[in-house]
Amino acid sequence: METPDSKRNNVTSKRLTIFLQTFGCQMNKLDSAIVESSLRDAGYQFVDNAKDADVVLMNTCSVRDHAEQRVMSHLGNLKHIKESRPDLVVAVIGCMAQRLGSELFKQSAVDIVCGPAQIAEIPRLITEALQEKKKAVAVTEKIRQVSPDAQLLERFEIEYSGDDTDIPGQAYVRAMHGCNKFCSYCVVPYVRGPETSRPPEAIIEQTKRLAQNGIKQITLLGQRINAYEYKAGDKTYCLADLLSMISENNGIEWIKFVTSYPSQKYFKEIMLAMANLPKVCRYLHIPAQSGSDQILKAMNRGYTSAEYLELLDTARQIVPDIAIAGDFIVGFPGETDDYFAQTVDLVKKARYKNSFIFKYSPRPGTVADKRLEDNIPQEIKERRNHELLKVQEEISRALAAEFTGQTVKVLVEGPSKKARLTAVSPQVYPGGFDPQHKVGGLQLIGRTAGDWIAVFNGTETLAGQFTNVKITKTTPLTLFGELV
Ligand code: 5AD
Ligand code: SF4
Repeated sequence: METPDSKRNNVTSKRLTIFLQTFGCQMNKLDSAIVESSLRDAGYQFVDNAKDADVVLMNTCSVRDHAEQRVMSHLGNLKHIKESRPDLVVAVIGCMAQRLGSELFKQSAVDIVCGPAQIAEIPRLITEALQEKKKAVAVTEKIRQVSPDAQLLERFEIEYSGDDTDIPGQAYVRAMHGCNKFCSYCVVPYVRGPETSRPPEAIIEQTKRLAQNGIKQITLLGQRINAYEYKAGDKTYCLADLLSMISENNGIEWIKFVTSYPSQKYFKEIMLAMANLPKVCRYLHIPAQSGSDQILKAMNRGYTSAEYLELLDTARQIVPDIAIAGDFIVGFPGETDDYFAQTVDLVKKARYKNSFIFKYSPRPGTVADKRLEDNIPQEIKERRNHELLKVQEEISRALAAEFTGQTVKVLVEGPSKKARLTAVSPQVYPGGFDPQHKVGGLQLIGRTAGDWIAVFNGTETLAGQFTNVKITKTTPLTLFGELV
């Protein structure tokens, strides 16, 4: 097959280069990995800055305005690069592409706009842009209908999923597309389309292939992963079934899944699967968003804070050592001091391992944006964000401290940021690693099954492997220790 590479090889023997930048969630990281793998297959080479790239690909996020503003400012910078290098091709993919469509051409640097359901078209769109110099847009017209490109996307996903992973030994596997929940603040249903579950066989096949390629941990992805439901004949598969099928079928050793939505349906089954299947990690990311029933109602979440806490009780009864993480939005329209105090109260009761806390950001097209005034001043949002983080920090500190003296199993991700910044090259890092005295070497990071970050010294060759670490010291978010 003739590829851009082979064409180019005949003339200059230089491969065309791509700089790919990813914003936002794990779903975007997965899409980027799939796109990257398809483009490598087509002969492109990936580089780590825009300066000398032939193509710049930006995979974008629309969940908060801040994420969109960052992309806009990058597009502004690319305009300047393009003045001196008019041949540069700039492609915007992901949620902003779907949300804004051809409006993105107002940013003069942009050549290609491609939505999340059209990523299979990216290799062709890039080839055409390089050859013909004309702008192209590929997005879903009616985003709330099942995309006409769904089958093409599924084939693309099966072909290219998992070949490129950010972290050695780990891969994401999509279990579901889209979302049907329409939480009033959230843009996801408008950019990722309706909720659909992928067939279990496709997921199982993919995990088998990943295991053969040395992947040790997979994370199943879905906006509401616990709503996974696939009907085949008279059998209906839920997430618990999927977890047990993946457990049985292959060499994957750890299975995680995100993000769970607080609802009763299948919840016990999933918790029982976690309790009974040793490969399923005892980690649950289950956003509450608020502790006030009035705000939860305005958010269209469909549960009360008491019902939410009951779910956590159920989870802890079935899986006593489960690690639970949450998400919160502070400063939602109408959030009084009293309502916020109820959120603080819920965080204290929930005893999360960690919480992700966001300031409310109105998203165009959502019900909250259309019907509710963004009436909480920025300073109050900041203050509440800070206060909630403080409360969470104390809980995290106490939970982390319980690890002191324990030995934990971790999957090693690689050198820590600090090690990457200080080591000229891993091989010449002062002294090398002395396994007997467990000193020197590189500072590595790994994660436990409960998603705790562990920091310890070792050799870079451990990346992608399991190892045991004895914890000697802890901070709210990090366990420090040494290899055992
Ligand atoms: N403003 C602020 N945070 C938001 N999130 C989703 N939409 C918004 C918004 N409009 C947060 C929620 C969600 C996480 C991924 O992002 O907490 O769980
Ligand atoms: Fe957004 Fe709610 Fe769907 Fe999560 S469940 S993606 S917050 S609409």
